[in-house]
Amino acid sequence: MATVTNIQDLRRIAMRKVPRAIFHYADRGSYDEVTLKANKADLAAIALRQRVMIDVSERSTATTMIGESVSMPLAIAPTGLTGLFHGDGEIHGCRAAHAAGIPFTLSTMSICSIEDVAAAVDKPFWFQLYVMRDRKFSESLIERAKAAKCSALVLTLDLQIQGQRHMDIKNGLAVPPKLTLANALDIATKPMWAASVLMGKRHSFGNLAVRKESDSLTTLSQWIAGQFDPSLSWKDVEWVRSIWPGKLILKGVLDVEDAKIAAATGADAIVVSNHGGRQLDGAVSSISALPKVVDAVGDKTEIWFDGGVTSGQDILKARALGARGCMMGKAFLWSLAAGGQAGVAQAIKIMRRELDVSMALTGVKDINQVDRSVLAL
Ligand SMILES: Cc1cc2nc3c(=O)[nH]c(=O)nc-3n(C[C@H](O)[C@H](O)[C@H](O)COP(=O)(O)O)c2cc1C
Repeated sequence: MATVTNIQDLRRIAMRKVPRAIFHYADRGSYDEVTLKANKADLAAIALRQRVMIDVSERSTATTMIGESVSMPLAIAPTGLTGLFHGDGEIHGCRAAHAAGIPFTLSTMSICSIEDVAAAVDKPFWFQLYVMRDRKFSESLIERAKAAKCSALVLTLDLQIQGQRHMDIKNGLAVPPKLTLANALDIATKPMWAASVLMGKRHSFGNLAVRKESDSLTTLSQWIAGQFDPSLSWKDVEWVRSIWPGKLILKGVLDVEDAKIAAATGADAIVVSNHGGRQLDGAVSSISALPKVVDAVGDKTEIWFDGGVTSGQDILKARALGARGCMMGKAFLWSLAAGGQAGVAQAIKIMRRELDVSMALTGVKDINQVDRSVLAL
C-alpha cells in the first residue's frame, strides 16, 4: 500500500484480492458498457485551464452538501453488497468517511444492516432507499432509518427494473456467494478475503434479514427482478416525501424533463447519475448531462453528480460544471477491497490532494469559488 499513488493502483490491488465474481460486480457495466466507458471518457475529455502566478498559498476544499459541512465535495455513494468486498465493509467505509469529514451512504442492499452501522459509528450517515413492491416493508426501512438518526434519505429512481450485467450472470453471482467448483477454486486463492468476509457479522442482505424471501435467494438478478417494482412513479416519490421529514436526495436523474419534476418535489438535492453505467446502456454520460440539469433547475435545488469519479481532477471538473458535490461508487469499493478502512481513508486522501493541487494549478484558492472559468472551454 505504500506505493499506492492513485485510485487505479487501488483497483489493481482489489483485482488481486477479491474473487472474480465480486470484482466484476463492481467493475463492470450493463450490456456493451457503452455508457460505463462514456462516463470516464467524457470526464477525461474536459480540459482544465492552467493559470500561473496567482498566490495560492492558502487553500480550502471545505464546503457543504445539503447544509452538512464536508472537508471536500465528495460523498460515498450507496453500493450493494459492500460487506462482500471486505468483512463489515459498510462499517469500515462509514468510519473512514467520517474520519475524513465526508458523508457515507448505506445502501438498502447492504450486507451490514442500518442498525449494525448505527451501533458502530458516532455520527449520522445517509440511507439509500429502493422502494420495493412491498410498500409496507419500504415504509419500515424508512422508520428504521429515522430510528438510526440517518441525516438524509437518498431515494434511487433509476432501478425500477435492472439492466443486465453479463458478467454477473456468467459468474453466477449470488448472495450469499454460492460455492460452485469454479468459485471455490477462486476463493481458495484469496484466503485473506475469505477470512475477512467470514469474520464479518453477516453474509447476506442485512436490511432484508427480517424477510423470508431473502433466505432463499437464487441469483442476485433473479431476486431483484422479483422484489423491485416496475410500476414506480413520481407518486411514490411524493409518498416517500410525505413520510420522511428529513433531507431528501433524489438519485439517478439524467434528463432535463425528469430534473424539472424532481426539483418540483422539493427535494434537497438531485444526483445526476446513470447508476455508474450499470442501467441503461447507450444513455449519455452523466458529466454530459450535468450542465444541462444545472442550467434547468440549479437555482431550485442542489445538483450533485456521479459516474466515473476516480480523481480530484474529476471532482474539480464536476464542480466547475455546477455540481455542488460528487459521489464515488467504484473508487470506494476498490479501495475498500484493497485495504478495508485504511484503503478507503487512503483513497479519500489521494483524491483530496489531487483536488487541492489541481485547484492551485487552476489559480483557485477556495472550492466555493470554482466555476466554469477553471475549464478550457
Ligand atoms: C457495485 C455497485 C453497487 C451499487 N449499488 C447501488 C445501490 O445499492 N443503490 C444505489 O442507489 N446505487 C448503487 N450503485 C450506483 C452508485 O451509487 C453510483 O451511482 C455509481 O457507482 C457511480 O458511478 P461510479 O461507480 O463510476 O463512481 C452501485 C454501484 C456499484 C458500482
